[in-house]
Amino acid sequence: MDPRKIYPILFLLLLVPLSSARFSPADNILLDCGSNSPSTSLSDHRIFRPDSQINSDGVSLRSPNPNSLYQTARVFTTPSSYKFQIKNKGTHLLRLHFYPFSSLSSNLNLSSAHFHVFADNDFVLLSNFAFDWSSTPSPLLKEYLLHAESDSLILSFVPAAPSAFAVVSAIELFSAPRDLLPDRARLVGPTLKENFDRLSHQALETLYRINVAGPKVTPFNDTLWRTWLPDSGFSISGPESRTVTFSGRIVYRKYGASREVGPDNVYGSARVSRASNMTWVFPVDSGYKYLVRMHFCDIASLALNELYLNVYVNGYAAYQDLDLSDATGQVLASPYYLDLVAGVDSTGLLTVVVGPSSLSDPSKVGGLLNGLEIMKINNTIGSLAGGVPSLLAMQSSRTGGSVGEGGGGGGAMARSLICGFVFVVLLGTAFMLMSRWKAETGKDGGLAWSPLPVDVSDGRFGQGSVALAGKFMYF
Ligand SMILES: *[C@@H]1O[C@H](CO)[C@@H](O)[C@H](O)[C@H]1NC(C)=O
Ligand SMILES: *[C@@H]1O[C@H](CO)[C@@H](O)[C@H](O)[C@H]1NC(C)=O
Ligand SMILES: *[C@@H]1O[C@H](CO)[C@@H](O)[C@H](O)[C@H]1NC(C)=O
Ligand SMILES: *[C@@H]1O[C@H](CO)[C@@H](O)[C@H](O)[C@H]1NC(C)=O
Repeated sequence: MDPRKIYPILFLLLLVPLSSARFSPADNILLDCGSNSPSTSLSDHRIFRPDSQINSDGVSLRSPNPNSLYQTARVFTTPSSYKFQIKNKGTHLLRLHFYPFSSLSSNLNLSSAHFHVFADNDFVLLSNFAFDWSSTPSPLLKEYLLHAESDSLILSFVPAAPSAFAVVSAIELFSAPRDLLPDRARLVGPTLKENFDRLSHQALETLYRINVAGPKVTPFNDTLWRTWLPDSGFSISGPESRTVTFSGRIVYRKYGASREVGPDNVYGSARVSRASNMTWVFPVDSGYKYLVRMHFCDIASLALNELYLNVYVNGYAAYQDLDLSDATGQVLASPYYLDLVAGVDSTGLLTVVVGPSSLSDPSKVGGLLNGLEIMKINNTIGSLAGGVPSLLAMQSSRTGGSVGEGGGGGGAMARSLICGFVFVVLLGTAFMLMSRWKAETGKDGGLAWSPLPVDVSDGRFGQGSVALAGKFMYF
C-alpha cells in the first residue's frame, strides 16, 4: 500500500478515540438570539452563532448582563418563526433560554413579555407564557424533546395579544443520541399489563433532572450539556437513608445506559437505605402523563446479586424484586435505567418510592437510586401547556411571514383548528355584519388574539369544533 495513503488512515485512527469520547450531534444548531457578534463561546466550550441568518424578524435588544449568552435577546411584536434544517430525523433536544432584562435604549421591560411557542404547528410548548414577576430576573431554561419527522423543524413565537411581545435569548437544537429516548415504556397503574408506545414521537418537556445524593452537575460536566440538581429539596427519606459516593470507574456496557444517558457524576453517587423505603415527591401539573426515568448504578454492594429493589410510582408497584446485577449482566458499578410512564391525578404530585423487596437481605443495602428525570408528555391535543392558546394565533403563525413553507407538517390539531377557524370566521363575519348594521364599530383587532379556553381533559379535538366555536362566540 502506498504509504501516502496510510498516513491519513493512521491519523483517522488516532482521532477515533477522541471523537467517541465526546458526543457530537449530527444536527447542532446553537443560536445566540439578537447577537451581532460572529460567535459567542460558553464555558462548556460550545459556540453559539447569531440567529440573524435564520430569522431576522423583530428587534434585537442588548442587556448589561455579563453572561455572554444573555447579553442580547430578540423581541417579536408579530408572529415569527425559525425554520431549522434537519439532517438527521428523529429525537432532538430543544432548549429555549430566556433572560428578562429591562432595555434602557428601547424603554422595554422584557419581564412583561406574554407569548406562545409552537413547534412544527403540531405541538404547543408554551401557551400564554409570562415571566414570574415575583422573583428577581434570572435566566430561565426550558428543555424539550421533539421528534423531527421531516427535513425541517419550525419553531414559532407568537405574541399573546396585539400589544404583547415574545422574546428569546438563545436557542439550542441538536440531535439526541440514538438511545436517549426509547419508543416504549412501562405504563404504571393498577395493572402492569400495558405499555406506553410511540414515546419517542411525543413532545416531552424536562421538568426535573436530579443527581440523587450528589452535587449539581453543570453543562460543562455533562455529556449532553444538561444540568442535574441535587435531590435535597425533593427527598423525604427517613433517617435510615444515607448517601454513597464512588470514585472508581463506572462500567458503561454496550447495551446498557451510555454515558450520554447519564454521566459519571450522576452514577457515582447514590442514596441508599437498608430496610425502609425512600421517597421523592415532585409537584407537577395534573392531567398529564409523565415519563419517569430512574437511574441506577450499584456502587454500594460488595458482591453481586445482593441488591433487590421494589419501585413504586404514585403508590403503584412498578417493579418488584429488581436485581440490578442481573439487569447489568452481572457487573457492579454499571449503569441501568428504567423508563416508566405514569398519569398524575388532581393532587398534582408525582411520588417515586424505592425500597427493599422481600428478597432483600436486611443486613445489606435494600434500596438505591442514583438519578431521576421527570418529563411531561404532551396531552391529547399536542400541548404541554394546557388548552390551545389562540386559534387565530395559530392561523397567523401558519400563514404569516416565513412560516408558509411549513404547510405540509401541519398536524391533526392544526387541521382541526383550521376547521374550527373557518366555522368561527363565518360566525364572526355574521356577527360583525350584524353589529355594523346596528352601529359603526371601531377596531376589531381584539377578536383575532383572544385566548381560547378549552377543556383538554381527554376529548378529541376534531369533533369538538362546534363546541369550540360555541366557546369562541362570546368575543
Ligand atoms: C421590569 O418589570 C418587572 C415586573 O413588573 C419589575 O419588577 C422590574 O422592576 C422592572 N424592571 C425595571 C428596570 O423597570
Ligand atoms: C466538573 O466536575 C468535577 C468533578 O466532579 C468538579 O471538580 C468540577 O468543579 C466540575 N466543573 C464544573 C464547571 O462544574
Ligand atoms: C414501601 O412502600 C410500599 C408502597 O407504599 C409498601 O407497600 C411497602 O410495604 C413499603 N415497604 C417498606 C419496607 O416500608
Ligand atoms: C401528543 O400529541 C400528538 C400529536 O398531536 C398525539 O398524536 C399524541 O397522542 C399526544 N400524546 C398523548 C399522550 O396524548
